[in-house]
Amino acid sequence: MDASLLAILTEANSAMSQASDPAALENIKAQFLGKQGKVTELLKGMAALSPEEKKTRGAEINQLKQQVEAVLNARREALADAALQVKLQAQAIDVTKPGRSRGVGGLHPAMRTLERIEEIFTSIGFDLADGPEIETDFHNFTALNTPENHPARSMHDTFYVEGGNLLRTHTSPMQVRYMQTSKPPIRIIAPGRVYRVDSDATHSPMFHQVEGLWIDEGVSFADLKAVFIDFLKTFFETDDLTIRFRPSFFPFTEPSAEIDMAFTSGPNKGKWLEIAGSGQVHPNVLRHVGIDPEKYTGFAFGVGPDRLTMLRYGINDLRLFYENDIRFLQQFN
Ligand code: FA5
Ligand code: MG
Repeated sequence: MDASLLAILTEANSAMSQASDPAALENIKAQFLGKQGKVTELLKGMAALSPEEKKTRGAEINQLKQQVEAVLNARREALADAALQVKLQAQAIDVTKPGRSRGVGGLHPAMRTLERIEEIFTSIGFDLADGPEIETDFHNFTALNTPENHPARSMHDTFYVEGGNLLRTHTSPMQVRYMQTSKPPIRIIAPGRVYRVDSDATHSPMFHQVEGLWIDEGVSFADLKAVFIDFLKTFFETDDLTIRFRPSFFPFTEPSAEIDMAFTSGPNKGKWLEIAGSGQVHPNVLRHVGIDPEKYTGFAFGVGPDRLTMLRYGINDLRLFYENDIRFLQQFN
């Protein structure tokens, strides 16, 4: 290549290496290889040359063209590479950083309350009993001194299932099942889910109860009061409780009482909430399971842990516990 061609190559080289982005580079390419570019003009000028000159000059210009193209391609690659580096830097992931965790789960407040109740009663010598959620009419009603057509059956709005069975409306059938297979002294609690056609701020169609039962010689209503009040004091971690035993009726206890407690916090502060049904076990219930009511007496209660949870945390609507809003439930973790 002669000096003038070398000068063009040098010029192209320096211009291209200064191009800072692909658009600028394409502009410079046009200045050399475009229709009116310097290299193109040289090729056009060959028309005036003799065949001999065309051969040598043509070869030289072609060489120049190839080298300019090589410089261009090298620069294109370099710019693409640089752009990629910038992009990679921007999206850099530090793989040594700890991963995003899913957050630690927690026990549902209803389960927390159930565990607490179980702990308190087992610590004073009560055993745990269990039973099915789909019950027979016999265990849910008849054995509990509530024969068919007894008006007390309408106290429970019952979900019936196929085959004449039902979703238990209370935990009391577990008393019956336990007494059918165990003889006094009996001291149990039986926690579980129960179901009623019922829904408002203090009633959920599925809720929990914990049944308590103590049968032995000489167990009285006074023992019920002592055990239950002691339980509440431990559960709420205070001796300062506002509670009352309100005379009531259950076919399976006599005398019977419902137990109310007042809210000490939340929007319902000062208002009463029923937390349990209770009473002295009816002689007919004991006879049904072959226990002699002349020799043995005792008490039973069915407490609503969901209501205890409401009182403990000052919650005014029971249904909040079962709507599965994670923002509500997380507060109890
Ligand atoms: C009964 O279910 C009796 N079996 C309790 C009992 C057991 C009495 C042993 C005597 C001897 P009651 O229907 O009142 O009673 O319900 C007992 C408790 O369950 C209520 O005080 C309340 O705390 C809770 N409860 C009742 N219905 C609902 C409901 N729909 N949602 C949430 N809690 C409820
Ligand atoms: Mg009641």
